[in-house]
Amino acid sequence: MAVLVLNGPNLNLLGTREPEIYGADTLADIADRVTEQFEKAAVAVDFFQSNAEHELVDKIQAAAKDGVEFIIINPAAFTHTSVAIRDALAAVGIPFIEIHLSNPHSREPFRQHSYFSDLAVGVICGFGSDSYSIAADQVIKRLKK
Ligand code: DQA
Repeated sequence: MAVLVLNGPNLNLLGTREPEIYGADTLADIADRVTEQFEKAAVAVDFFQSNAEHELVDKIQAAAKDGVEFIIINPAAFTHTSVAIRDALAAVGIPFIEIHLSNPHSREPFRQHSYFSDLAVGVICGFGSDSYSIAADQVIKRLKK
C-alpha cells in the first residue's frame, strides 16, 4: 500500500508564512507526523512539495506507474488556478482527498473556487496542520477496508 502526500507552492514556508493563518508548524513537522502515522499503519508514504505546477503534474503521472493507491493533496494557490493538476488527477484516477490548513471559504472570494473539490473523495479544511492528520486517518481507514 502506498500513499502520496502532495503540497503546492509556498507551503515550504510554513512556520514563518502568515502564522496567524497557517499556524506555527513547519512542513517538516507535518511531514514527520504524517509519516509516523502511516508507518504505524504499515502504509508507505511519499511526502512531496513543489512550487512548480509541472513537477506536481509529473509526480501525479508517476504515481499511477508506482502503484500509489491514494493521494492527499494541498494544492495551495494552485487550488484556485490549475486545470493542469486537476486533469492529471482525473487522468490517473487515483482517489484523493483535498486538504487546506485554513478554511478558504471564510477568506477572499478568489479562494472560494477549487478546481479539485468536485473530483475529490472529500475535502478537509480549516483545521491547521491537523487537516493532514485527519486526512491520513481517513486514508488509512479506507485502505484497510
Ligand atoms: C491553502 C489555501 C490556499 O488558498 C492558499 O493559496 C495556500 C494554502 C491552505 O492550506 O490553507 O497556499 O491551500
